[in-house]
Amino acid sequence: VDDHYFSPSPATASRPQTVSLTLPDLTVGLTTDAGVFSGDAVDPGTRLLLLEGAMPPAYGDLLDLGCGYGPIAVALARRSPAARIWAVDVNERAVDLCARNAEAAGCTNVRALQVSADDVLAGIPDDVRFAGIWSNPPIRAGKDVLHRLLVSSLARLAPGATAHLVVHRHLGADSLASWLEGQGFATKRRASRRGYRLLDVARRASEEPT
Ligand SMILES: C[S@@+](CC[C@H](N)C(=O)[O-])C[C@H]1O[C@@H](n2cnc3c(N)ncnc32)[C@H](O)[C@@H]1O
Repeated sequence: VDDHYFSPSPATASRPQTVSLTLPDLTVGLTTDAGVFSGDAVDPGTRLLLLEGAMPPAYGDLLDLGCGYGPIAVALARRSPAARIWAVDVNERAVDLCARNAEAAGCTNVRALQVSADDVLAGIPDDVRFAGIWSNPPIRAGKDVLHRLLVSSLARLAPGATAHLVVHRHLGADSLASWLEGQGFATKRRASRRGYRLLDVARRASEEPT
């Protein structure tokens, strides 16, 4: 059955289970399910992003792009309870799990939204600018989709804000970094561990609106 995890509505029968997200500053149980990304354990790339990526700012609108069942959104929400976390995904089951996981973790500051691949920020008010973006992006969705969703999200970074991405080297982290540079985004490799790259991506000052 061709039921990839990023289909809008997984056809796979539900098989819920609980996984643990364990970080130095927080431990939280998260419900996952069949048909969502990395449902058997928190993805090692995601964990690395949360371990070695930037801590979120205390306030502002933060984006978890491709939230899955919500490990990044929930960690951001717990670390910055006064920030508002927008968690978006095309997968309905994932969005539903993310909302429930946030609630179970006592987070009232997560807005989980199902979006379409054509309009990844659907439902987020136009005037929202992100004080930071965190993402383990959907590389396997293909370059066209990936590039489109990154550019539309990065365009909504607040002046001086940064996007934090984790991408595996074998899935094209280095060519993605060059592509982002070519699109006018300053892209730095923050860390490189076990094949994963953590990329920090910012708009160049000259390209920010005055
Ligand atoms: C690599 S997974 C990461 C999931 C979750 N953040 C985690 O760390 O476990 C990427 C996610 O992006 C979602 N996705 C795929 N295409 C998308 C799109 N066009 N817009 C938003 N999310 C998308 C997938 O459904 C998947 O949940």
